[in-house]
Amino acid sequence: MAHPAPQALRSPLQRALSLLRPSPVSERTPIARGADASSAHARGIELADRAPDREARQHPEGFICLESVSKVYPGRHGGPAVAALDGVDLSVARGEIVGVIGRSGAGKSTLIRLVNGLEKPTSGRVVVDGIDVGALDERALGPARRSIGMIFQHFNLLSSRTVFDNVALPLEILGADRAGIRRRVEPLLDMVGLADKRDRYPAELSGGQKQRVGIARALATEPKVLLSDEATSALDPETTASILDLLAGIQRELGLTILMITHEMAVIRRIAHRVAVIDGGRIVEQGEVADVFAAPAHATTRSFLGAETGRSVPAWIAERLQQAPVEGGKAVLRIVFRGEHATDPVLSQLSRELGIDVNILSGSIERIAGQPFGILLVALPGGAEALARATGFLADRELHTEVIGHVR
Ligand SMILES: Nc1ncnc2c1ncn2[C@@H]1O[C@H](COP(=O)(O)OP(=O)(O)O)[C@@H](O)[C@H]1O
Ligand SMILES: [Mg+2]
Repeated sequence: MAHPAPQALRSPLQRALSLLRPSPVSERTPIARGADASSAHARGIELADRAPDREARQHPEGFICLESVSKVYPGRHGGPAVAALDGVDLSVARGEIVGVIGRSGAGKSTLIRLVNGLEKPTSGRVVVDGIDVGALDERALGPARRSIGMIFQHFNLLSSRTVFDNVALPLEILGADRAGIRRRVEPLLDMVGLADKRDRYPAELSGGQKQRVGIARALATEPKVLLSDEATSALDPETTASILDLLAGIQRELGLTILMITHEMAVIRRIAHRVAVIDGGRIVEQGEVADVFAAPAHATTRSFLGAETGRSVPAWIAERLQQAPVEGGKAVLRIVFRGEHATDPVLSQLSRELGIDVNILSGSIERIAGQPFGILLVALPGGAEALARATGFLADRELHTEVIGHVR
C-alpha cells in the first residue's frame, strides 16, 4: 500500500488552518484607518505618517491599548452612577494572549465592550491596531469591528440557522457571494472539527460544539483580534480544556491577538501569556502568568490562586502553622521552581552542601504558559541561622522562596 502523502499526516486543524492563512492584502477586509483612509488609498497616498500610525508607533508593543480608561454608567431609575472602570491601563502586544481575571461585577465585560466599540469610555483612550476605537462614530466602527472577532459565554447562536449558516452570517452581512462564503466557511468548520455537523441546528449540539461554532463565526471575517467574554464559563472542565487548546492552536497558527476575560485561574493557566487582575474597576496586578503565579502581590490575586494546586497549604500543615519561630521546630518554606530549572535537583544539593535535612510536605509540578512550573512546601530544621543559609542558597539559584510559618 502506498504511503500517505505528507499532507495527510497533518492534523485536521493544521490542514484547515493552511487554507485560512491571511490572504493577499488586496483581498482582505480593509481595517478602518479613519474616515478618509479609503479615498487616500485610492489616490495612492502613503498612510504611514497619518495620525493612527503615529499613535501606534508611540505604543510599539500595544496592539490593543487602554490608556487611563474610565467608564461611568448613569444611574438607573434615579439611582447613583456606577463607576465600572477607573483609570485602567492595559496593553496587549500583537500575537499575544492576555487574560483579564476578576469577580462578577469587577468591570470585565465593560472592558471588552470598550475594546470592540460597543461602549465609549467616559475618559481615556482605547486604541486597537492604531485606531482610536472610542473616537469612531457608528459608521466608521463597522469596518473596525470586522477586524475584531468576539466569542461569548452563551454562544449567541441563531437557533433558526444551521451550523453552516451561523458561521456564514457575518459574511452575508458583508455581502459576500455564495461561492465566497463556502470557500471561507468550509475550512473554518474543518478547523473547529464540525465539518460533519454543518447542517445541524444549535439545539442539536453540545455546549462545546456550540462554542466551536461561535469560534468559527468569530473568525469568518479574518479578524486580527479575538475577544472572549467568559467563553468557557458555561462548559465543564474537560470541554473547557479542549476549547482553550483549540484557541491556542488557532492563535499560534494565525498569529491572532487574543484578549480574554474570565473568573477562572484554570483558564489563565492553560492559555494566557500575561494576566491582569481586575477588582472594583481597577487593574490591581498584572504580569507574566508564571511570575504572577509564583509571587502574587495582591490579595485578590491570592484568593483566585488559593484553589490552585500547590499554592494552598494542606489542612494538616495549616492547622499547626505558627507565625513566630518555634524553639526546636522547623521553618515551612514555599519554593517555586520554574522553566528549564523546574526539575533541577536543588533540594538534594541543598542537603549535601549545607548539611540541612529537608522534609517535603507537599508538592506539584504542572505547566503554566507552556513552561514547567513546580511548587514545593518543605520544612527545614535548625533555627534562624540554618534558615538564612538555606534561603540564601535558594536565592542564589534564582528560586522564589517564601517563609510561610513555623511548626513544632
Ligand atoms: N449598561 C449598564 N448600565 C449601568 N450599569 C452597568 C451597565 N453595565 C454594567 N454595569 C455595572 O458596571 C459594573 C461592572 O459590570 P460588568 O462590566 O458587567 O462586570 P463583570 O463583567 O466583571 O461582571 C457592575 O456594577 C454593573 O452592574
Ligand atoms: Mg461579565
